[in-house]
Amino acid sequence: EMTPDEAAFQDKIDADIKIEPRDWMPEGYRKTLIRQIGQHAHSEIVGQLPEGNWITRAPTLERKAILLAKVQDEAGHGLYLYSAAETLGITRDEMTEQLLDGRAKYSSIFNYPTLNWADIGAVGWLVDGAAIMNQVPLQRTSYGPYSRAMIRICKEESFHQRQGYDIVMKMAQGSPEQRKMAQDALNRLWYPSLMMFGPSDKDSVHSAQSMAWKIKINTNDELRQKFVDQTVPQAEFLGLTIPDENLKWNEEKGGYDFSEPDWGEFFDVLKGNGPCNQDRMATRNKAWDDGAWVREGLMAHAEKKRAAKLA
Ligand code: ACO
Repeated sequence: EMTPDEAAFQDKIDADIKIEPRDWMPEGYRKTLIRQIGQHAHSEIVGQLPEGNWITRAPTLERKAILLAKVQDEAGHGLYLYSAAETLGITRDEMTEQLLDGRAKYSSIFNYPTLNWADIGAVGWLVDGAAIMNQVPLQRTSYGPYSRAMIRICKEESFHQRQGYDIVMKMAQGSPEQRKMAQDALNRLWYPSLMMFGPSDKDSVHSAQSMAWKIKINTNDELRQKFVDQTVPQAEFLGLTIPDENLKWNEEKGGYDFSEPDWGEFFDVLKGNGPCNQDRMATRNKAWDDGAWVREGLMAHAEKKRAAKLA
């Protein structure tokens, strides 16, 4: 049974009226948003690590400038998202602490390594491609600050996806060795990219309520299907092969049939057992600890200013 407040809230959602920070909202709505936006922000921040690793090794000055800009964009996305979450009554420091002590999740994909330059192309093409597929509908999410953050983020993500596709295209059209590297990157990153959309709908604990609240617009499986349908022709254009023997156009559904990722591996990565989980967390913890003196210095300065004003 809904209370009158809850019923009025649901009416607004159903009428596509945005919810703003000062509006009444159910506690579950607030908590779900903090969880999802927080996880999203952490993904942007941790997501800098696999690519940041290659800034110093980019093959040309132009590629280096592009990658540097892209990684900086990801930091910016993390900051808009933390700001959006802060409007729900949590601080960025609290969210950071939740990430660093393992209470908050971040996207499974960033626990996989980037072994060579072809992987940087595949990350832009597939990982940013999957990210946009999920984020374009989120521009219409019911919470105002989150939906507005998504508009700018999506514009930047589409540039990221193109730069990745451009790297893979150069390699796919390059020497036999480069072509092999591009195919190998696709082989390794395909299934982890499919996992980004979350567990299959039957195992998605939050989807039903999140969709009723229009926090989520599509189910995990709907977006995964759209991603496969979009990406297969892109791979064909490059002359690369999606590593799935069961991939087949299904005329009736108007989409591809494809193999599910290994869900055992997915849940294992979520538990902290992916190839890079420990390394990613160690890097973020070190950055936080190394920055303590800056935070303390800023606080001391603010305190001094405040005391001077009072005097
Ligand atoms: N990586 C890590 N955790 C995941 C992933 C994933 N790929 N997919 C699902 N999960 C977690 C959920 O957070 C949830 O865990 P929790 O209950 O402990 O919080 C659990 O698995 C169950 O999944 P769902 O019930 O399906 O969870 P939810 O409704 O939150 O859907 C989704 C997951 C689709 C990722 C959703 O949270 C979302 O759309 N988030 C915003 C987009 C985002 O975070 N993108 C990050 C990657 S893109 C990038 O940064 C470049």
